Amino acid sequence: MSAEEVIDERKSVRQFEFERHAPEYRPNFEAITREMHRTCPVAWSDTYGGHWVAAGNREVFDLARSPHLSNDRDVHGERRGYEGVYVPTPPMNPKAPVVRGGFLEMDPPEQQAYRQALNPYLSPAAINRWIPFLDEVARACLDEKIDTGRIDFVDDLANIVPAVFTLALMGIPLRKWSVYCEPAHALIYTPPASPDSKRVWRAAMAMGADLYTTMLEIRETPRPGLIDALNNLRIDGQPAPDIELVGALNLIIGGGFDTTTALTAHSLEWLSEHPAERAALSGDREVLLDSATEEFLRYFTPAPGDGRTIAADCTIAGVDFREGERLWLSWAMANRDPSLFPDPDTVDLGRRGNRHFSFGLGIHRCIGSNVARNVFKRMLLAVFDRMPDFHCDAAGAVHYDTVGVINGMKHLPADFTPGPRLGPGLDETLDALQTVCDEQRPAAPVVRSDS
Ligand code: HEM
Repeated sequence: MSAEEVIDERKSVRQFEFERHAPEYRPNFEAITREMHRTCPVAWSDTYGGHWVAAGNREVFDLARSPHLSNDRDVHGERRGYEGVYVPTPPMNPKAPVVRGGFLEMDPPEQQAYRQALNPYLSPAAINRWIPFLDEVARACLDEKIDTGRIDFVDDLANIVPAVFTLALMGIPLRKWSVYCEPAHALIYTPPASPDSKRVWRAAMAMGADLYTTMLEIRETPRPGLIDALNNLRIDGQPAPDIELVGALNLIIGGGFDTTTALTAHSLEWLSEHPAERAALSGDREVLLDSATEEFLRYFTPAPGDGRTIAADCTIAGVDFREGERLWLSWAMANRDPSLFPDPDTVDLGRRGNRHFSFGLGIHRCIGSNVARNVFKRMLLAVFDRMPDFHCDAAGAVHYDTVGVINGMKHLPADFTPGPRLGPGLDETLDALQTVCDEQRPAAPVVRSDS
């Protein structure tokens, strides 16, 4: 038997047509997942140029922690030609400089240097200090709508709070949130063939230009935050190249915005459809809020998976992999594995021992998980307190057409009984918070809820 035939057999016994960008994938996700768990927890799919797909919890666990996998994206063909974490590799904008996806598309030790620089700003203790800030932004968002009885939870809340907070962490003026929010969101759900894609690319270029200018400005006049931390990063005594810093900043925006929006929107939609569970969660939040947050993360898996390249011939989870092959780790499918999560297709707000995969695992595990959890919880609590009888309008809810990259939502309109405003609107609130942030630097900012 030739080497070629051996390779074919390796793949043919595990053949599964896996097309996660197809519109039918989303409604059939549970059936496809069950089938893959039953027949091939690691499958070979000919889609996207051919790649492995890991769907079982044990297999994803072992693969994600293996040193034989690479995240590297060799955009200039200087190393081993690997294609990073997107499967398929996304098209490049020919008019924009080629940037890899920050340290998510790097391997150690380079990747670790970036994480070490950012970690102090993203630890649980650092993020807890921002809770009054988050409450104030959520309050202002809801005040913009509270007397109308109608809100779009995506446009009016879940898009705004993560964006404003990410900018605050970075050291970017808060009022610029809309420059960043629209492209970060639309880039995910607008396919290249869409008539809207030119407009979205233009918005993304404007965002990139603002990001680069702000980075240079902070280098000139430092103010603490994630951008300053990256400006001060040294690898072998040298500053990181600007192009890699821009990649890292784009990654923080990409990681910080749409994922948290997706989690919040899906959870609010589910809570609207399950009034008894909503009442239980709102009423017993001290007991249930943490476990419910983890369960929503598990069930909706906002970032459904990530790609890798096999960096050395190896056998993992019983499969012989060859150097250079592509692999997709499905966090979403691992999250539905019945051998780890009893009754996996049911939302159980009190689920215990919920060791979900939604933030990934291994050396690239989400560095923003404390941000995500806190931002989500503060938005949810604000809605419970101010709009307790909210009811989402199912006909107006718009989910992303495909869930290939983010399991997100474009719109989630809802009605509720109008209530009184509690403070100024969003712009005025952001101006007040900006002053507090500026005054309180250089310490990791602590803001007052009454500002
Ligand atoms: C619900 C919200 C979020 C989800 C579901 C999520 C999910 C993930 C996942 C699955 C990974 C691992 C990717 C891989 O291994 O290939 C990851 C990495 C990352 N996330 Fe998040 N994320 C969320 C929020 C955030 C936030 C708020 C930030 C920033 C403030 C952030 C920044 C990052 C960064 C920078 C990485 C790359 C880490 C590395 O490569 O070392 N994420 N995220």
